[in-house]
Amino acid sequence: MRKILVAGNWKMHGSHAMVSELLEGLLAGSESPSNADMAVFPPFPYLAQASSMLEGSSISWGAQNLNPAPKGAHTGEVSAAMLLEFGCSHVLVGHSERRSIYGETDEDVADRFVTALESGLVPVLCVGETLEQREGGETESVVQRQLDAVLNRVGVGGFERAVVAYEPVWAIGTGQTATPEQAQEIHAFIRDKFASQDDIIAGQLRILYGGSVNGSNAADLFAREDIDGGLVGGASLKVDDFLAIRNAVG
Ligand code: 13P
Repeated sequence: MRKILVAGNWKMHGSHAMVSELLEGLLAGSESPSNADMAVFPPFPYLAQASSMLEGSSISWGAQNLNPAPKGAHTGEVSAAMLLEFGCSHVLVGHSERRSIYGETDEDVADRFVTALESGLVPVLCVGETLEQREGGETESVVQRQLDAVLNRVGVGGFERAVVAYEPVWAIGTGQTATPEQAQEIHAFIRDKFASQDDIIAGQLRILYGGSVNGSNAADLFAREDIDGGLVGGASLKVDDFLAIRNAVG
C-alpha cells in the first residue's frame, strides 16, 4: 500500500511565534507511530525557521511556489537553488490561487514543474476545476488539460518523483469538502491516465486530495483506493487539527 502523505499548505499565514508553536506541537505529536508522512509548506520567510526546527525530524518542508529562472532580474521571486539552501524537499506548483489570482498559465506551471524536477525538488502539481466548470461537466477535461501541459513537457517519467494534488476550487476554504466518492472518481481518472502510459509509475504516484480536509472527514477520504493523502490548508494551521488528520490514517 502507498504511504499516506499529509501536507500542510499554510498559504500566507504565519509569524515567528506561530511557526514555533505549530512546529513544536507537530514535532511532539509526530512521535507516535503512524502510517502517514507529514510535510509543511510555510511562506518563504519562515523556511529558515522550519529548516532549523525540523532538520533531522520525520517532517519534511517545502515552498509554495518557485520561479523557473535560476537567478536574475525577477523582483519578488525565489529560485529553486534558494529553496534547496533552506532544505526544502518539495515545492507546490500550480496551486489554484497562483493560477486564478496571479495569472499562472498551464505553461507557467509546466515551467515551474520542470525546474523543480531538474533541481531535485519534488514538485506537487495542483490541479482542479472551478464550480462553474464542474457544473458545466468539464471536470475531467480541465484536469486532463492541466496534467497534459506538464506531461507534454516531462513525459510520464517526470512523475516518478512527483506528487499530484487534486484540489477542486469549489472545495478550497469553503468547508464544502468533495465527498469521498467525488474525490475518488477524479483520483481514479488521474491514475488511469498515467496507467495508460506506465503502470508502475501510476501505481506509485501519490495523488493527494485538497479542499476543506479536516479531522472528521480525513479518514473517509484516505480510505479510498486512489486517495493517497491530503493537501490541507486551514486545518494545517492548528496543531490539534493537523494531527487529527495525520492520526486519521489507519
Ligand atoms: P483548505 O483546506 O483550507 O480548504 O485549503 C486547501 C488548499 O488549498 C490546500 O492547498
